[in-house]
Formats: sequence, structure tokens, C-alpha cells
Amino acid sequence: MRRTRIAEIIAAENIGARYTVMGWVRTRRDSKGGFSFIEINDGSSLAGLQIIADQELANYKSEVLKLQTGCSIKATGTLAASPGKGQKVELKAEEIEVLGWADPDIYPLQKKRHSFEFLRSIAHLRPRTNTFGAVARVRNAMAHAIHTFFQEKGFIYLHSPIITGSDCEGAGEMFKVTTFDLNHAPEKEGDIDFTKDFFGGPANLTVSGQLEAEIYALAMGDVYTFGPTFRAENSNTSRHLAEFWMVEPEMAFCDLEENAALAIEFLKQIFTSVLDNCKEDMEFFNRFIDSTLLKTLETLVSHDFEILTYTEGVDILKKAKQKFEFPVEWGCDLQSEHERYLCENVFKGPVVLIDYPKEIKAFYMKMNQDEKTVRAMDVLVPKIGEIIGGSQREDDHDALYERIKEAGLNTDDYWWYLELRKFGSVPHSGFGLGFERLIQFVTGLSNIRDVIPFPRTPGNLSF
Ligand code: 4AD
Ligand code: MG
Repeated sequence: MRRTRIAEIIAAENIGARYTVMGWVRTRRDSKGGFSFIEINDGSSLAGLQIIADQELANYKSEVLKLQTGCSIKATGTLAASPGKGQKVELKAEEIEVLGWADPDIYPLQKKRHSFEFLRSIAHLRPRTNTFGAVARVRNAMAHAIHTFFQEKGFIYLHSPIITGSDCEGAGEMFKVTTFDLNHAPEKEGDIDFTKDFFGGPANLTVSGQLEAEIYALAMGDVYTFGPTFRAENSNTSRHLAEFWMVEPEMAFCDLEENAALAIEFLKQIFTSVLDNCKEDMEFFNRFIDSTLLKTLETLVSHDFEILTYTEGVDILKKAKQKFEFPVEWGCDLQSEHERYLCENVFKGPVVLIDYPKEIKAFYMKMNQDEKTVRAMDVLVPKIGEIIGGSQREDDHDALYERIKEAGLNTDDYWWYLELRKFGSVPHSGFGLGFERLIQFVTGLSNIRDVIPFPRTPGNLSF
């Protein structure tokens, strides 16, 4: 008999139906009446299924009474309405088979609540907890909602490369990819000779799929990427990972205003979908992680986002009574304390900041007429700060050439990117959403290491 998922059984409430379920024991309670309650979870929903195991079962004494948290079992029986509190249905077992034991003396996950820090050290077991199960389901639902949003709008999903020869952000924060024996790399006049390396030149893990997305936008119109990106920045914060996932739409014939409008519509639609489709998990986060969560998301989907320029934002920050760790001056890169102040204290919601000073933004952003600011946009949200970074792209060949030089990059490395501006150049724009920051915002989890299955951060690569 095939197993039925617990989520399906609970949703159907088909009293009297026969089912086989398989899952991991969360708790076992023995009643004086000669039977036991076994709560199992199979990952399909936050709620588990209560199984009633009677002493008449052949292996009741020999096995059932030895079941502990973490054991895996297969149970077959009939669904009944549950008289107890906390669940509507329960399974009256006719047969219970133990699939795998878990020695309680050494099984690290016990009934008590463990700290997130401890759970990070057991990344192979933490998905069996309520919180990490809920994160996995919400992450999955968000990924689905993202694809749905773009597919319904006719965007083409582009698979941008993970190994690349160019630095998209021009920030030099890349992991190298090589097959050289690092102790004996071939040298040419004291320098490593990359012509002898696997790709015949230096190669890196991508920091962003944007440049390749631009290539396809300038042929297909509207495209998006959704894949892993890598940054070798030594930022040990609750918002930075060395490996994270990014969603990057890129649109031809699109200016900054339309780009910002799309970003806002996008966020609202995926927040609506998580509220609609992940009710149980979202209520769990609202109860145990952040009690303002549901209200924040509900307000956000029905309200306008504030759009203002960097210059206006800096003016507000300079007048603020609050003491910041990093002082604010026009031209400085905003820290998350500044971004959060604007969202949490001033506008009480998300903010889109546009037109940043060119010195603090990447080389590819379109210059404004003031020649001081570029057509950048960051979407900032309460508690996190920046969740989206994007811009209208410089589509003028000569202006872009100058900006690449100014940024201290080699124009030869970007020959193909420059060529796109020589042949049928059009105004185009796009943005990048940090998928883990989005999940943080939606779940209320304060540390980004808890919203990705296997976090990679400086000094940390458990397996
Ligand atoms: O602002 P960023 O660096 O923009 C880009 O990479 C552009 N190429 C995107 C584009 O226009 N297509 O990164 C985009 C987003 C940030 O807003 C942030 O949410 C997330 O990616 N991000 C990180 N998330 C986790 N860990 C890190 N180290 C991150 N760096 C950026
Ligand atoms: Mg950014």
C-alpha cells in the first residue's frame, strides 16, 4: 500500500478511510487505558498526525512502547474523528512497523526547544523541527510564486551561467574557479599563468546573472534569472551569505519608473500568495517568531510604497534625532540602520530609494542629467533594510565606456557588454531580489543562516 501524506489526510478529513502513513515520531504518550498516542510528522505540513496504538497490536510491548522522538514508522489504520484537543482526526492503527530506530541517548533533537545556533550545528537534522520544516515549505511556496508571477507576465526564464569570466558588480568579491594545484600553479614571470588553467583564462563563480540577462533581454524583451550567486565579501552579519539565491528580471524598453513599479507589483503579489497558500506555517511564525508578521504583510499588500530620491532620504536622515553608529552625509553608502530608520520610523513601511550618487553604485547604471547621480533603485523594508537592488542600465556606448574606465575596470573584459550598446541599443532596466532576505522578511527570522538549508558564511561550511 502506498503512503498518503499527512497534509492530504488532514485536508480531506475522510473519516472511516483506510490509510498508510509514514513519518518520524515527535512524541509518544502512554495512556493508562492500555494504548499509546504517537504523534508523527512527515514534513508535508506543520501539523502531524496522532496515531492511536492499542495494546492489542502484536508488537505493542516489544516495539511500540520503545518508540522515541526521531524514530521512523509506517502505520496503517482507519481515520477517526479525534475526541482530544489539538487535532480533528486521528489514525487508529491496525499495524505499526518500525522503519528506523533513534537512540534517545544520542539523538540530538529532543522535545525541548533548541536554540537556532545549536540547530545550525546539526544542519542534517534541523529540517525535522517545526521551524525549519515551515521555512522549507515557505521557501518552496515563494519560489513557486516567483515563477508564477513572471511566467504569467510572459517573461522568459533564463539560465545564466554559474561559472563566469566577468565581474558583474565590479566589486572584486569573487570566488575563483580553478583546477590548478594551488601549491604548484604554473607561473609566467612571477604571475599565475591562467592560459594554462581549465578555461584558458581566469574564471569565477558569478556574483549576479544580470549581465547575461541583459544579453537576452536585448533579444527576447523580458527575461528573468533565478539561481545561486556567490560573494566572497567578508561580511559576518545576519543579512549576508557567501552563497545566496537571486531573482533577476531584466526588461528591454523599460525605464526606472517602470522598473520600480514592477518591483512593487512583484513583491505585493508574492506576499499575497504566501499569505493565501501558507496559512498554517505563517500563523506559526506569527505566534513563535514575530507577532507583527501577519499584520505587516497584510498592510504592505494593500498600501502604496513610498518612492523618494537618495538626496531626499539623506535630508531626512540628517534631520533625524536618532544617533546613528555611522554618520550620514550626502555621498555616503547607506547602512542598514539608516535604511531601517526610513522604513520603520519615518514611513512605517517599505521605501524605494532612487537616484543614488554614482560613486557608490555599480558602473552599469544609467547616468542622470546632473552627472552626479545614477538611475539606481533600492527597495528597503522594515527590519531588514535592502531587499532589492536595481537600476536602469547605461545604454549609451560612450558613456558606459567612460564609466567602466572610471570604475578602474578593464574595458577589454567588457567588450561584448559594450557591443550591445553598439548594435540596436535600447533603454532597459532590471533588478535583483535577494531570495533569502525575502524569506527573512516573510518568516520574521532574524538570522539569514536560518532561511537557507545549508548556509555558507565566512569560516563556516559544515558539510
Ligand atoms: O544590490 P545587489 O548587489 O545588485 C545586483 O547584484 C544587481 N546585479 C541586481 C540587478 O540589478 N539585476 O544585490 C541584489 C540583492 C540585494 O538587494 C540583496 O537583497 C541581495 O541581493 N544580496 C545578498 N543577499 C544575501 N547575502 C549577500 N551577501 C547579498 N548581497 C546581496
Ligand atoms: Mg545593492
